Amino acid sequence: MVATTTSTSEGWSSRSAFILAAVGAAVGLGNIWRFPTLAGESGGGAFVIFYIACVFLLGLPLVLSEVFIGKAGQTDAVGSIRRVAAQSKASPSWAIFGGVGALAAFLIVSFYSVVAGWVLYYAGIMGGDLVQAILAGDPFRGALAGESQDQIQQRLSDMFASPGLLLGVHFVFMGLTLYIVARGVSSGIEKAATYLMPMFFVLLVGLVLYGAIEGDIGQAAAFLFTPDWSKLTPQVMNSALGQALFSLSLGVAGLITYGSYIKEGSGLGPTSALIAVADTCVALLAGLMIFPIVFAVGLDPAAGPTLVFQTLPFAFQTMPGGALFGFLFFVLILVAAVTSSISLLEVPTAWGIGERGWSRPKSALIFGGGAFLMGIACLLGYNVWADVRPLGFWSLFADTDILDTVDGFTGKVMLPVGALLTSIFIGWKADKNLLLTTTGLSPLAFGIWRFLIAWLCPLAVAIILATGLFPSILGT
Ligand code: PFF
Repeated sequence: MVATTTSTSEGWSSRSAFILAAVGAAVGLGNIWRFPTLAGESGGGAFVIFYIACVFLLGLPLVLSEVFIGKAGQTDAVGSIRRVAAQSKASPSWAIFGGVGALAAFLIVSFYSVVAGWVLYYAGIMGGDLVQAILAGDPFRGALAGESQDQIQQRLSDMFASPGLLLGVHFVFMGLTLYIVARGVSSGIEKAATYLMPMFFVLLVGLVLYGAIEGDIGQAAAFLFTPDWSKLTPQVMNSALGQALFSLSLGVAGLITYGSYIKEGSGLGPTSALIAVADTCVALLAGLMIFPIVFAVGLDPAAGPTLVFQTLPFAFQTMPGGALFGFLFFVLILVAAVTSSISLLEVPTAWGIGERGWSRPKSALIFGGGAFLMGIACLLGYNVWADVRPLGFWSLFADTDILDTVDGFTGKVMLPVGALLTSIFIGWKADKNLLLTTTGLSPLAFGIWRFLIAWLCPLAVAIILATGLFPSILGT
C-alpha cells in the first residue's frame, strides 16, 4: 500500500452541485426497479414503513459518516480513511474497508450496466413504437398496438436469448459511463447531474400525474401505505434493510468519494438528510407511479423483477397515451441509472488516481473496461453460460446465475461488511473533535448521530449480514 496520500485537486463547484450529484448517485435502478419490485413481492405497506424506518435510523447516520470521511480525508476512499484514522490515532488498517468498497463498486457497476442495457433496449422498443404511432397520426394511442400479452412477454425472453444484443446495449451504457467519468468531476460528473437530474424530476412528476389520472392511485396508495404487520417477516425486514443500504449507495465508499470533492463549508447534517429524504421520496413516488398503472389493468403487483419489463409494457398498451408515457418511463429509468453508474465507476477510478497515481482517463479506462468484461460474463449467464453457477459450492448461491451471484454477493456480503466497518470506525474510532468540527452538527444532533452509529447501526447491520448469509437463522 502506498503510504503517502495526496489530496485531490478536483472538486464540486458548489454545495448544490454536490447535492445533485449525490442524489443522482442514490436515485437509480434501486429506486425505480428494485424498490417497487420488493414492495410488490413483500405485500406493500408493512415493508414500506419498515423500509422508511431503516433509511432514517440506519441509513442517514451512515450517509453522514461516509460524507464526513470524504470531506475530512479529501482524497480517494482508501486514502481518506487512512487520513481520518491517522488524525484519530487509529490503525491505518482501517483503510482496508475503503478498498473493499471500491471492489464492491467495481463489481456492482459491471452488472448494473447490463441491467441498464435492458432498459436502453426497452427505451429503443418503446421509442420506435412511439414513432410509428406518430406516423400513423395517433400519437396518443396505447403502446405496442396489436401485440398480445404473450408477444410482449416474449420480447424479454428473446432479448435474454441474444448475447449480441445484450452485449451491444451493455457496451453503449458502459461506454457512456466511462466517458462521463473520464471527463472528470466538474466537467463530467457534475455536468451530467446538472442536466440529467432536473430532467429526471420533470419526467417523474409527469409520470406520477399520468398514473394518478389514468390509473388507480387510490388502490396503489392503499397498497403502499396500509400495513399488514403479519407480512413483516424476518426475511422481509432483512430485504428492507439491505434495500435501504443499496438505495442510499452505502457500503461501497461512493459517498466517501463524492464527499472528498466537497472543498469547503460545513453543514454536512442537513446535506445528508436531504440526500436520504430525496432518495426515499423518489422510491415512494416510483411506487406511486408504477402501481396505479399495474392496478388499473388488474395485473399482479408481485410479479417480481419482470414487473418493469413485462407487466408495465402490457399495462401501457391498454392505456391512452401509453405509447408516449411508456417511452418516457424507460427514459426516466435510464437517466436515473446513468447518474448512479457514474458514481459507482468513480469509486475505483478515484482509487487508481489517488493510490496508484494514474491519470483519470487511464484509471477510468482500466476499471470501466474491466467492469465491461465482467458484465459480459453476467450477460452470457442468460444464454450460453446459463448453467454456470460461480458460487455453486455455497448453498446460498447454489442455484444462482452469474449476474445474480455478483448482485447477491455484493448486496448480501460486501455492502453490509462495508457498512458495518464504517459504523464501527465512526462510532468507536474516529476522533470526536474531528467529527464535530467537520460535520458542524449541533450538540443534540451530534449525540443522536453518535448513538445511532455506535450502537444501532453495527447491531442492525450485523443482523442483516448474519441472516443474509445464514438464512437458516430465520428458519428458512
Ligand atoms: N443507489 C443506487 C440505486 O439505488 O440504484 C445504486 C448504487 C449506486 C449503489 C452507487 C452504490 C453506489 F455507490
